[in-house]
Amino acid sequence: MRLRITRVKQVGLVLAGVMMAATLLIASAPARATADDDSGALYKSKCAMCHGQTAEKKFDAAKGDDDLMQIVLKGKQAEKPPNMPAFADRGITADQAKALVAFMKSQKH
Ligand code: HEC
Repeated sequence: MRLRITRVKQVGLVLAGVMMAATLLIASAPARATADDDSGALYKSKCAMCHGQTAEKKFDAAKGDDDLMQIVLKGKQAEKPPNMPAFADRGITADQAKALVAFMKSQKH
């Protein structure tokens, strides 16, 4: 009887280990995507539809990085819609906003 219980425990431990490994794998996938900080891909998926492929629309590269970064995070009311959305509400961090602004500037010629 006691033997059985320990075996059940062992199986349980193995299962728990497998599940933990699986969770780690799943959890690390999106973390890797953001850690890579691929602002080019981020820009294309979230920004290009309004700002154009090379940030040629609605973007003044002469403005300061901090001002532009704040607009990315907090949004901006345009004269006519669509407005610039506040991306802090959509999971963009200050670092990502900074990288996105740098990316947009690098696209402008
Ligand atoms: C729904 C359309 C839309 C999307 C999507 C969008 N923007 Fe904007 N963005 C605007 C508009 C409109 C303005 C200009 C507001 C104004 O000054 O009239 C703007 C302004 C900006 C500015 C300030 C430009 C300046 O010269 O003052 C920055 C920087 C910016 N956007 C970055 C981004 C980034 C980075 C993303 C993606 C994460 C993004 N935008 C996604 C519409 C959009």
